Amino acid sequence: MTDQPEQISRASAHAHPNIALVKYWGKADTGRNLPATGSLSLTLGALQTHTTVARGASDTLTVNGDSRPEMAERLFRFLDSAFPDRPALSIDTQNDFPTAAGLASSASGFAAVVCAVDGLLQSGHSEHRLAQLAGGGSGSAARSLYGGIVRLDAPATENDDIRLRPLAEPADWPLEVLVAVIDEGPKAVGSTEGMERTRTTSPYYSGWIDSHARDLDLATDAVGKRDFAALADVTEHSFFKMHAVMMSSQPALLYWLPASVGVVRLVADLRARGVPACCTMDAGPQVKVVTTPDAATELASAITGVAGVQRVIRSGLGNAPVVNLER
Ligand code: DP6
Repeated sequence: MTDQPEQISRASAHAHPNIALVKYWGKADTGRNLPATGSLSLTLGALQTHTTVARGASDTLTVNGDSRPEMAERLFRFLDSAFPDRPALSIDTQNDFPTAAGLASSASGFAAVVCAVDGLLQSGHSEHRLAQLAGGGSGSAARSLYGGIVRLDAPATENDDIRLRPLAEPADWPLEVLVAVIDEGPKAVGSTEGMERTRTTSPYYSGWIDSHARDLDLATDAVGKRDFAALADVTEHSFFKMHAVMMSSQPALLYWLPASVGVVRLVADLRARGVPACCTMDAGPQVKVVTTPDAATELASAITGVAGVQRVIRSGLGNAPVVNLER
């Protein structure tokens, strides 16, 4: 018998992606990947990334069974800074939803890998520290360390870090999200490059940044009061403002397809008739519709009928990542 802790041979984690209702678009520090603004998100329970890590002879990455050298470079560089004494790692990751199509696969991907590596190496970081580390890989990933509804605050000073606050657990306010899948191909311009283009070329960027704190506080207040109408108002305002700064970048960042417009218009009409629903979109043509459980079934069938919508994924709110360790 020995009191020495046995080494963990493999660790796996599953994490959920999230969608922002108050959007992050723009960095305060590209080196540390710190956001220029806060954000507020829903963790999506029906979508999942599952990542397994083990010590290896050299760094290897497979994503949905394929080796992906272009993703591997960014990932292992990130892991070098997040876990400076790490060994070589063999990483396998599976997404049960389209990768790199504006469905936040980088959020669940970085959240899952940070949790799995932390488990493998027994680093013992707090959940909050893991969220900060994941944010260094992809800004939105920090939010996937928590379930339910999550607020992220940008660093207040240049030496500061992000701060995260879970605002509601899934059961506290069981909202639903309908993802109208329009094009499952990879996005034309990734978020990191797109944000820098916007920051350096859009004449509206300062307006986007300056008006952001108010949106974050309005959304936080709406969540506190479980006020769907107020949350829907600020969600759509933040969504349209973000796409306005994207479109006013040079060259323009236009992530919309005709079906995206079709879904956004449909939801606007239904909302005007009293259906609890609002839209948001990220760096891709998919439209995410936030609603309440009683309205979700009818709304999903209306969205499925929009020309160009391939399918609708329905999701409730999800929990924080779960880690499994093997000795
Ligand atoms: C449009 O987190 O993917 O989805 O930090 O450069 O990896 P990086 O960006 P990422 O950006 C997400 C942008 C967004 C809005 C949001 O999720 O807040």
